[in-house]
Amino acid sequence: MSQETPEIKKGLVGVVVDETSVSKVMPDINALVYRGYPVQELADKCSFEEVAYLIWNDDLPTSSQLEVFEKQERANRDLSPELWDVISKMPKTAHPMDAVRTGVSFLGLEDERIWDNSPATDQNKALLLMAKIPTITAAFYRHRKGEKPIKPDSSKSFSENFFHMTFGEVPHADVVKAFDASLVLYAEHSFNASTFTARVVASTTSDMYSSITAAIGALKGPLHGGANEQVMHVLQEIGEVSKAKAWLDKALAEKRKIMGFGHRVYRKGDSRAPTMNKYGLKVAAIMGESKWHDISEVLEKEMIEKKGIYPNLDFPAGPAYFLMGIDIDFFTPIFVMSRITGWSAHVMEQTAANRIIRPLSHYTGHPERKFKPIDAR
Ligand code: COA
Repeated sequence: MSQETPEIKKGLVGVVVDETSVSKVMPDINALVYRGYPVQELADKCSFEEVAYLIWNDDLPTSSQLEVFEKQERANRDLSPELWDVISKMPKTAHPMDAVRTGVSFLGLEDERIWDNSPATDQNKALLLMAKIPTITAAFYRHRKGEKPIKPDSSKSFSENFFHMTFGEVPHADVVKAFDASLVLYAEHSFNASTFTARVVASTTSDMYSSITAAIGALKGPLHGGANEQVMHVLQEIGEVSKAKAWLDKALAEKRKIMGFGHRVYRKGDSRAPTMNKYGLKVAAIMGESKWHDISEVLEKEMIEKKGIYPNLDFPAGPAYFLMGIDIDFFTPIFVMSRITGWSAHVMEQTAANRIIRPLSHYTGHPERKFKPIDAR
């Protein structure tokens, strides 16, 4: 047997594992396209619903296609009485990501088509998930505070309805637009950790709900989606702009990872971050609170100067959501509300041209040993 160590690509760095037509990340030119369209333009000019349609249907909708799609999404927002009941019994101390993961898992229990992975059924499952995840999220938000849940309102857009179900009111149109744009920016990002997780599960010919439940688990981690929550904790820890530089120097000296900075693929800046920053500044102006952006600016400048590391999308998204009045531990569930579109598109793509994903490992444990019966050990 050869003792040679094969080349190991720890973290699968640089490994191309499959093809995709959903999105393309171009780190050299700081660009990201969904089905060929630049994400910045989509964020400025499209609603999240239009972008969901694009991700699933390979093209932007006409106005009549969008009308039909919006009707379907709005008609499927409500939950079964059983799921409303499950949410009302969830531990109030649970992390919202675990609540959302459990809610999605429950939707899988309820769907009798669970083993039907045909394209039409999977597309319908994806739409149901998009429509219901905000309801699960908002219901848990209110349950945790001891407040009565608010039913979805089908006269409202996807983003307006989320605010309505969470707070009982819809904020200024520019705040809703900033939120909607964040959903567009979060919707899809090629083979990131959670999407790859979803594809691994799909590759076993499991089912849509299992893939999405697993993806939510992957997204929860602070090195992935959970970073948007950690960014806000860092900004709060710093507290004021005059302390930002010293805080960063100390954190870097202690070799701390600065949340919201760095990216596996982008090395010279995340293509989505400036667009989110633009919307975050608008929210800050409306709310009359610039402190978090002032601190962020110092961190960004210093990180680029000292480490050559740029902010990622989570860096401006965290304070924007905070200024919208959303509890910090709900930032990552909002990411789920958006990324369900990308995840499900990848599940369908994997299913359409499937081969089970099963890499190899290099064994470094004991050489083969002689078995000893229990009384001889
Ligand atoms: N703060 C401080 N140093 C960082 C850093 C950060 N946020 N991100 C990367 N680095 C450093 C690493 O420590 C490493 O330094 P070294 O060569 O001296 O060991 C170097 O930059 C290269 O980073 P690397 O570990 O190769 O990055 P990765 O591709 O394995 O990991 C992330 C990418 C995103 C997981 C990583 O940048 C990170 O942990 N960022 C913070 C969490 C975050 O914001 N996640 C959201 C991603 S969208």
